[in-house]
Amino acid sequence: MALDQSKTPYVDALLAYRDRDYVAFHTPGHKHGKGAPTKLREALGMPLLQVDVAMAGGVEDTRESTALVRAAEDLAAAAWGADRCFFLVNGSTSGVHALVLALTGPGERVIVPRNSHKSILAGLIFSGAMPCYVEPAIDPEWGIPLNIDTTQAMRALKAHSDATAFFVTSPTYNGFGADLASIANAVHGAGMPFIVDQAWGPHLRFCSHLPIDAMSAGADAAVTSTHKLISGITQSSVLLANSQRLSLERLEGIVKLTQSTSPQVLIYASIDAARAQMATHGEELWSTAVELADWARAQLRELVGVRCLGAELLERPGVASFDRTRLTISGCELGHTGYQLETILRDDYRIAVEAADPLNVVLNVTYGDTMDDMRTLFAALKDYSARFAAAGAGDDAACRRLLLQMPGFTRQVLTPRDAFFARSRPLPLARCVGHVSAEIVTPYPPGIPVLGPGEEISAEIVAYLSEGAAMDLKVHGPEDLTLGTLRVVVD
Ligand SMILES: Cc1ncc(COP(=O)(O)O)c(C=O)c1O
Repeated sequence: MALDQSKTPYVDALLAYRDRDYVAFHTPGHKHGKGAPTKLREALGMPLLQVDVAMAGGVEDTRESTALVRAAEDLAAAAWGADRCFFLVNGSTSGVHALVLALTGPGERVIVPRNSHKSILAGLIFSGAMPCYVEPAIDPEWGIPLNIDTTQAMRALKAHSDATAFFVTSPTYNGFGADLASIANAVHGAGMPFIVDQAWGPHLRFCSHLPIDAMSAGADAAVTSTHKLISGITQSSVLLANSQRLSLERLEGIVKLTQSTSPQVLIYASIDAARAQMATHGEELWSTAVELADWARAQLRELVGVRCLGAELLERPGVASFDRTRLTISGCELGHTGYQLETILRDDYRIAVEAADPLNVVLNVTYGDTMDDMRTLFAALKDYSARFAAAGAGDDAACRRLLLQMPGFTRQVLTPRDAFFARSRPLPLARCVGHVSAEIVTPYPPGIPVLGPGEEISAEIVAYLSEGAAMDLKVHGPEDLTLGTLRVVVD
């Protein structure tokens, strides 16, 4: 029988707990806010502190709490089309850790895209598995990674037929979806579980104007960050899984092993409420958001020197779908990097963006936005365009300079775990050729690692990093962010 998706058992239990007005002899120490410092009360407010308790509904009874969480998770599983859902309190990061641990062991192979979030690498370090990378294309104009295509997936399956799982990240940060259904088919044909990092797609399933979601496309499991684009509070996420190719019991054990034993009830409650909102009103809420984003994109594209990415990249290999609610905007033609445009929008127009890279800023449009917000955004960029175009502010050469041709993956000499725990030392970059990296080095753009722990360092990589260092390329990961040295494995 279909579950009633308007129900919010977890939120209701939390409110009932608050209304019973217990004298609290349990965690946390601020005791419903009564003992909280004034500044904390001011920042969070008493209503929030009053429901910051250990386990909603069954605060004095763990069995009651467990049943309550399960009821809320079952509703979420049905809403997202999975056999089982686990609420997560440490973001999709923790779901990826759990999935990698559940599906791979020491020395086993796992196929992963090169543009994976770093949580995959942490999972590999925990599990000791060996990554086999599939490299997505990078769009030369926008400097952003696209997605992997079915041909690449099939090639990887053939080359690593002993792999224990196949991971894909879809959609990407900029909203590009892989052809999930066709990749799922190929992966299942090879007898492997297909796992999707859908951190940026918690909304997809709930609106017909958005790309297909992972579970509908045949994924065996997915993580999806309810805090990123729907109403879950920060750190909330869900892990969705089907039982056909995964042991849900083993997965549950690992989720429990890797999550906090004191999950934040407000995070759980927000997932419960966000799921109900999506399941009952997702279609209309997101249809409106899509219209708002489409309106903004069309308007922004009329402005001199301002570019806004749209569905045109759908023709590229590896791009099967595009989430139109993501706005990737560039002011490069007016001589501004994404970081500069972010600062201008924030300081001159009080507009806060989601992220900036050397070329672009990225904005999320959701059902929380209004036409007024879109008009404010357009007015700001219109003014920006007029100011800097009139001043003859420059050209895009300074930004484009950052689009270095990235060298390819070399070879994985050690597992990430062996390299991570090996004895290592910093070595001047110029002398690193032929050594094995002990650390990860991810340049932005394009946000894809050029080196991971256990990978051989080639002359091309050293040349690329030297050139990048000379022009202040932003990198994440290495101890020495100036790239004067890299940490390499000793022996
Ligand atoms: C593709 C991808 N996967 C996983 C994560 C981690 O998600 P969370 O912040 O919910 O832990 C992110 C975060 O930005 C991401 O972009």
